[in-house]
Amino acid sequence: MTLFDVYPLNNITITKAQGSYVWDENGVQYLDMYGGHAVISIGHTHPHWVRRIEEQLEKIAFYSNSVVIPIQQQLAEKLGKVSGKEDYQLFLCNSGAEANENALKLASFYTGKKKIVAFSKSFHGRTSLAVAATDNPSIVAPVNEIENIIFLPFNDEQALINCFNKQGKEIAAVIIEGIQGVGGINIASESFLKLIRTLCDEHNAVYIADSVQCGYGRSGMFFSHDYAGVNADIYSMAKGMGNGFPIGGILIAPHIQPKYGMLGTTFGGNHLACAAALAVLEVIEEEKLIDVAKQRGMYLLNRLKAIDGLKNVRGKGLMIGFDVPEELKDLKKKLLFDYNIFTGEAKPNVIRLLPSLAISRKQVDEFLEALQEAINEIRREKNVEVSDTTNA
Ligand SMILES: Cc1ncc(COP(=O)(O)O)c(C=O)c1O
Repeated sequence: MTLFDVYPLNNITITKAQGSYVWDENGVQYLDMYGGHAVISIGHTHPHWVRRIEEQLEKIAFYSNSVVIPIQQQLAEKLGKVSGKEDYQLFLCNSGAEANENALKLASFYTGKKKIVAFSKSFHGRTSLAVAATDNPSIVAPVNEIENIIFLPFNDEQALINCFNKQGKEIAAVIIEGIQGVGGINIASESFLKLIRTLCDEHNAVYIADSVQCGYGRSGMFFSHDYAGVNADIYSMAKGMGNGFPIGGILIAPHIQPKYGMLGTTFGGNHLACAAALAVLEVIEEEKLIDVAKQRGMYLLNRLKAIDGLKNVRGKGLMIGFDVPEELKDLKKKLLFDYNIFTGEAKPNVIRLLPSLAISRKQVDEFLEALQEAINEIRREKNVEVSDTTNA
């Protein structure tokens, strides 16, 4: 049997990981500025996380949601405390797409309405409603094409006002990433998020904060939407929540009431996933990782802004992007294969940095030094090419 070939792979096999480093099968060490796609929040194989999972595994790994699972309640309490949303309710699932799928479905149940407002360059996952609300036709199958999604330009306040004026009665939810990840690190303005809050209140629509990538402390606040001083009705979460152990969830505001059977899942909230997620929150608290993300992020952002050649450096906390000009288009590849540094990307020309929130200042400096050297080297190679051609 072969694997279904849907991923364009780097030809690297990682066999070991610790903190902000990973090693390949030949023992080569790589600095991980990508965090396995924003997933590694507290650092690879953090000892507390490993221990908690091991201890849980010895007791019980799984039982279905037909019995009381006290570790779910422990997780809900800790999450309420660390996120500051203590009066919210928690529904657990397994991934980011599933979290958004449940958020959108719940918004429709709650309002009795059908239309969803989403934004240009959004990414909300690959399940049916989540992908329909994702602005990338190439991953939307014909069966997922529905008429209930309204796409508006990101950060365009007048377009949002016009839309609510026209269709407010039909709108169940607005779904928005506080900082777009896959779209290329685009920050929702605070006034735009405030406007979403106001319009949702006026029109009985649900404000869904997709925090799958920009959440869980990565932005330097627990949720990036917190910068705007607004509370969403539903926050979706995954990625950093389990530090690599698959878990997702939604935080649901108190006015949205549950009903038996309304949502459900077999694996969501299993003992093992909850142990992993609890360990993550304990480490975030203990090591003050949200503050670390804010400080390190600010340092990294400012140093990047000073590097000649990088354009439009932007981001919050440890969710940072910059545009790579045509002359440096091989930068990402060069960082990986010549300097052994993983970074993320967004098409067509953005490098995304999504390291562990526990990355050290020394590791950030190591990255910056390599980045500068890689840029210098590309320029030297280009100049050599130019003078070669001239000589010819
Ligand atoms: C903002 C956002 N929402 C949802 C998802 C989907 O998450 P998952 O891949 O866990 O289904 C992603 C994944 O990259 C994401 O970045």
